[in-house]
Amino acid sequence: MEAWQKIVVYYFSGTGNSENVARWMADIAKVKGMEVSLINIGKTVRREIEPPEPDALMAFVSPIHGFNYPPVMLNFLFHFPKGQNKVLLLNTRAGMLIGNWITPGLTGIAFYFSALILKLKGYSIRSMFPVDMPSNWISVHPGLNERTVKYLHERNQEKVYRFAEKVLSGGSDFRGLYEIIQDVLISPISLGYYFVGRFFFAKTYYASADCNNCDLCIKACPVKAIKKVDNRPYWTFSCESCMHCMSNCPKRAIETGHGYVFVIVLLSSLAFSGLFYHYFKLLFFDIENTLLGFTLESAIFVGILAISYRLLHYFLRFKIVERIVVYTSLTKYKFWGRRYKALKKFQENFGFNPDKH
Ligand SMILES: Cc1cc2nc3c(=O)[nH]c(=O)nc-3n(C[C@H](O)[C@H](O)[C@H](O)COP(=O)(O)O)c2cc1C
Repeated sequence: MEAWQKIVVYYFSGTGNSENVARWMADIAKVKGMEVSLINIGKTVRREIEPPEPDALMAFVSPIHGFNYPPVMLNFLFHFPKGQNKVLLLNTRAGMLIGNWITPGLTGIAFYFSALILKLKGYSIRSMFPVDMPSNWISVHPGLNERTVKYLHERNQEKVYRFAEKVLSGGSDFRGLYEIIQDVLISPISLGYYFVGRFFFAKTYYASADCNNCDLCIKACPVKAIKKVDNRPYWTFSCESCMHCMSNCPKRAIETGHGYVFVIVLLSSLAFSGLFYHYFKLLFFDIENTLLGFTLESAIFVGILAISYRLLHYFLRFKIVERIVVYTSLTKYKFWGRRYKALKKFQENFGFNPDKH
């Protein structure tokens, strides 16, 4: 088995889980005396990617978004120069805790799709390794408690250290493939999510009156998706819902507008359930339950969402509207809205000695 001298770890991270995993890989590489480069692709110009040195091992670490790597990561891989290096693929995904059992997240097509892209560029894959870090998606579920977050960090740090020990000494580890059946079954949803993530979730975030216009969310957004409209942060369709803004807002002013979204979805479905197809049939022909009908309905829904989001943005300046929207946002409440950020102390080998793993 060949032992490696150099490793380049490319990572994308919204709330720090993937960054932690990238750093844990780097810990072991350093202990082994390897030359290590850690590259945050959220801060990289994707059209100017330096090709890796031919003798370096490469690793890619990214969260799973909607059963795939997020578009920013896929985009990076698409622009990645050709080469023949060996590659480790890792992901971090939604882990939760039942007793002391870590429930696994779902990788979907992330490994297969990225392996295909890299393979076509000449690279060869040495590992596919999922890591079940705490789920950060508080737009759709209540924030995890401290015990869960700490426990998952501890267990996963050990797990990644063991993995790193093995693959940096020349081994391979394809445990991601054990889940191939569920990954294949879920693959249609991952394609659907590509659009839902971009055209729906992007328009569910807003800044409440607690926002003091510090612009941190705008400056720190890894995909530059937030802009200033009428002196307030405004989320564009480029948003990938990575949760970086919500997790890092010092005023805790960024919320997911559950109530607002509920009303828009309800009104749209009422319109689509009867009126739309009825009048379309009267004017043209029957498209109910056809692919054309579905496509048209989706496109119109995105239009409605874009317009209503712009209106919401305007009306949020009125206190009464702002309060109604805030108090119908689940993220506002204690039982749900605990913001998630990966534990930084685990970036300093807290409680662990990499030599021992
Ligand atoms: C928009 C979004 C979609 C997600 N989709 C999935 C998913 O399909 N499967 C999964 O296991 N976890 C999913 N998660 C959870 C994250 O992948 C997980 O918490 C990850 O560790 C976050 O990494 P980060 O802190 O590096 O951004 C999702 C999270 C978000 C914000």
